[in-house]
Amino acid sequence: MLYQGPLPAPYPTLTDDELVERIQKLKQELGSQCVILAHHYQRPEIVALSDYRGDSLQLARFAAQNSQSQYVVFCGVHFMAETADILKTGQQVVVLPDLGAGCDLADAADADDVAMAWDDAVGMLGHDDIMPITYVNSTAALKSFVASHHGVVCTSSNADKIVNYALKNHKVLFFYPDEHLGRNTSKKLGVPLSQMRLWDPKKPQGGLLPSDLENVRVLLWKGCCPVHQMFTVKQIDHIRTKDPEFKIISHPECSMEVVDKSDMSGSTDFIVRTIAQSSPGSKWAVGTELNLVNRIAKENSDKTVVSLNPFMCLCGTMNRIDLKHLCWALDQIKLGTPQNVISVGDPDRSLAKKALSRMLEMS
Ligand code: 13P
Ligand code: SF4
Repeated sequence: MLYQGPLPAPYPTLTDDELVERIQKLKQELGSQCVILAHHYQRPEIVALSDYRGDSLQLARFAAQNSQSQYVVFCGVHFMAETADILKTGQQVVVLPDLGAGCDLADAADADDVAMAWDDAVGMLGHDDIMPITYVNSTAALKSFVASHHGVVCTSSNADKIVNYALKNHKVLFFYPDEHLGRNTSKKLGVPLSQMRLWDPKKPQGGLLPSDLENVRVLLWKGCCPVHQMFTVKQIDHIRTKDPEFKIISHPECSMEVVDKSDMSGSTDFIVRTIAQSSPGSKWAVGTELNLVNRIAKENSDKTVVSLNPFMCLCGTMNRIDLKHLCWALDQIKLGTPQNVISVGDPDRSLAKKALSRMLEMS
């Protein structure tokens, strides 16, 4: 994870009202030169100032299609800004307002560790008919590795299609870095748990013996999102006992036990759409990040929407993007000295682009 030092004066001492006023003025002055993108997990005040919000797939598509704005201010986490930079078609400049906005899940798979594990897996399996898939929550270096082994990227919106392709066309799928999304998707597509193995990168040969890999269909990299890890079956049981009218909807980064017990599961956009389209008076307990749950509750005041975990916390890294950092980032663009420019260099850039473009074509 990268680190960014404290902001210079006057940003730390400006009030929220002053910051909002300044940002609105900067947006007007910059006009169509600059677009502000926000992931669904961003703070409400950031979403309110953004030009476009969405899930990872929608934001990746936007980046691939944007030709109008020279500056893309990405209010999200580092891998999302990297993806926007890789998919851009012109000379746009992608800015991440706080470099500390990383993703713990993306950090769970180092590309060099993945390369070593790959060689071990090929040796243990005795063949190389393995397709690598990386969740978009990963570094550009890992996307590049995946492309160099004829693999592809997926998001939580298109994982079903992409995993299905891998299962149909290859003997084995190696899924990085989120074991839960990999397990939940493979299980939904009919792979029994007995044909899945967890690869622990901290152990020699993933903690497996060659005999463990007989009949294996899916290898799951041991990694997870600390935010979605907080949801439990106990919370589902508790809410259903209190009020059986509640429907449970969870993100597929939650554990298999939670997803299996939920009424439905899908990407952030799926969760937003499903609740928006549900009947007035319906009740929802949501297993995903709290900023989004609170926003859905506000936008659906005719329904009851609560977090599945009453003690849920926010995604700390998403929340590093605040009014102060956004204002500073826009001021720097206005001055012609953009800061925190996310620029992925070759060879990772062109290879990662291949894996991301293939994903966009397949979804
Ligand atoms: P989505 O692709 O559903 O927006 O999820 C991204 C993410 O980081 C979830 O934790
Ligand atoms: Fe990463 Fe989890 Fe935050 Fe999503 S919620 S950005 S997976 S740490």
